[in-house]
Amino acid sequence: MAEIGSDISRAARVLESEELVGIPTETVYGLAGNAQSETAITSIFATKNRPRFDPLIAHVGSIEAAHRIVHQVPEPLLALMEAFWPGPLTVLLEKRDNIPDLMTSGSSRVAVRMPRHPLTLELLTAIPFPLAAPSANPFGYVSPTTAQHVADQLGERIPYILDGGPCQVGVESTIVGLEEGQLTVYRLGGIELEALRPFGEFRMLLNQSSNPSAPGMIKSHYAPGVPVIIGNLAELVPEYRDGSVGIIAFQQSFPDVPNAHTLSLAGSLSEAAAKLFATLRALDRSGVELILAERFPDTGLGRAINDRLNRAAAR
Ligand code: TXA
Ligand code: MG
Repeated sequence: MAEIGSDISRAARVLESEELVGIPTETVYGLAGNAQSETAITSIFATKNRPRFDPLIAHVGSIEAAHRIVHQVPEPLLALMEAFWPGPLTVLLEKRDNIPDLMTSGSSRVAVRMPRHPLTLELLTAIPFPLAAPSANPFGYVSPTTAQHVADQLGERIPYILDGGPCQVGVESTIVGLEEGQLTVYRLGGIELEALRPFGEFRMLLNQSSNPSAPGMIKSHYAPGVPVIIGNLAELVPEYRDGSVGIIAFQQSFPDVPNAHTLSLAGSLSEAAAKLFATLRALDRSGVELILAERFPDTGLGRAINDRLNRAAAR
């Protein structure tokens, strides 16, 4: 069983021997290995049971460290990195040969981000290589937002989990790139579209399950074991309340439903995002047969919340 702790030198030694460590980030926990080691990358795919066509994100401790693994960074993407790093923004860049093709599923571009978590930033300065880190969940399941979530599912398969407390953002990074000269958003996430807009006009290339250039956007992703229905709770709750249902509501509370979760009484989308995945996990374990989820406002982090709920519902 994985040991859980906050020993950065221990984590660094495990990574130097090409083994894997669960790491905290501000978005979700990652399953990290040396991004320049084919052994470690192979082990990440195997541990998550992830298909090799779904590429991994390289985590770096600085913009300089990113330059060491990619070619010339186009000006508009550099501006985004300077504005949002460290933070929940992943940028697709042309990779150098020191990043194995296995990491990018054969693509010439590698996804790179600098996470905003003090333990992981310290770890990244203690090791001489970037960290490949997908979310630390079995392929297709809800991402982990605590060290315990990682231990629950992958604890038997990895030696160490760095515990950095619950993730503050709670949804994965926003993924952007430049394609045919056009700024593009590939995944909605922790950086809101509203924050990107001052940097240019972005087109959306989401949900590309049939497009091998963005394979991770498979529609039924982030799915708990229990079916999820999304809609207006005022209509859904009376319709389904005879069965054993769980509820995910934004601000409203349902005192007579035992498995009802209100994500933010105060109506804060960032508070709701931070609680979303832990709530899906709790409902999955609670024995309910169906999860009814509210459609969130389609603004700010509400877009990423709706995206994850839609994927959880698409099974
Ligand atoms: O917030 C996050 O991004 C978290 C934390 C751990 O950093 N990581 C994460 O990784 O969500 P993962 O593997 O669950 O999702 C990465 C997604 C892939 O599924 C894929 O869609 C996209 O990033 N991606 C990675 N490399 C890519 C590439 N070279 N070209 C296109 N898309 C890529
Ligand atoms: Mg993932």
